[in-house]
Amino acid sequence: MIRISSTDRVFILTGAGISAESGVPTFRGAGGLWRNHRVEEVASPHAWQRDPRLVWEFYSMRRRVAAAAKPNSGHEALARLEQSLQDRLFLCTQNVDDLHERAGSVRVVHMHGELFKSRCDRCDRAPFDDSATYEPARSDGCTPRPVPRCRCGGQIRPHVCWFGEIPYDLDKIAAGLNDCTVFIAIGTSGLVEPAASFVARVRGRARTIYVGPDEPANTFAFTDCYWGKAGELLPNAFRFD
Ligand code: APR
Repeated sequence: MIRISSTDRVFILTGAGISAESGVPTFRGAGGLWRNHRVEEVASPHAWQRDPRLVWEFYSMRRRVAAAAKPNSGHEALARLEQSLQDRLFLCTQNVDDLHERAGSVRVVHMHGELFKSRCDRCDRAPFDDSATYEPARSDGCTPRPVPRCRCGGQIRPHVCWFGEIPYDLDKIAAGLNDCTVFIAIGTSGLVEPAASFVARVRGRARTIYVGPDEPANTFAFTDCYWGKAGELLPNAFRFD
């Protein structure tokens, strides 16, 4: 049971594990490979330079999977937590899907970007909503869509943070980490920086809690661990003092 007092400020970091029960595969679990590519091979500036079509095929697949998925009871529990805590909750996700929002969370910080947005790889045009898929010809006769172009001539890319790029909203996140008295990581392997180090930054002055079925790489930094699936644990995890 995670006790939350009337003065606590809670920082939550979610990872792929919270969407696993919605049918969105994690990156490093079983089935985490896409056509034998590790995610690092299709989610990097280098991959984009080498083969933008392949990158769009990967993100088109992810758009289809995420669009078909529904929020689970873990996402819903965090949306209810926001209703109780309002701005005393900082919800930071590494996920690019929109399942937190579809469960009702309002203030979600997507540090790795958003799957249903795109942007130009050349000009500074703002990221825009885009749920289209850009894939080569398929046997079902769907019209193939080429890599889309911006009016400036640049190529349109997914609005996601790739390996080797700097995550979004790091200033806002640093402020949230500074303020928090309770830090909870949910469903993340603790392998990808900078998110993996957030717990070490607050440790010693905030309670640090992990929720998930497997030990993350940074377990040592957590004071309490709740082993199990987010969708099963989170609905009854919070107690308000
Ligand atoms: N509930 C909670 N956690 C779960 C569940 C579940 N039902 N199922 C799996 N998990 C946990 C796994 O135990 C694992 O620790 O989710 C974690 C998923 O780990 P990763 O696949 O490494 O995902 P994540 O930590 O979010 O990856 C971080 O890496 O590839 C990049 O940008 C990508 O945001 C991603 C980042």
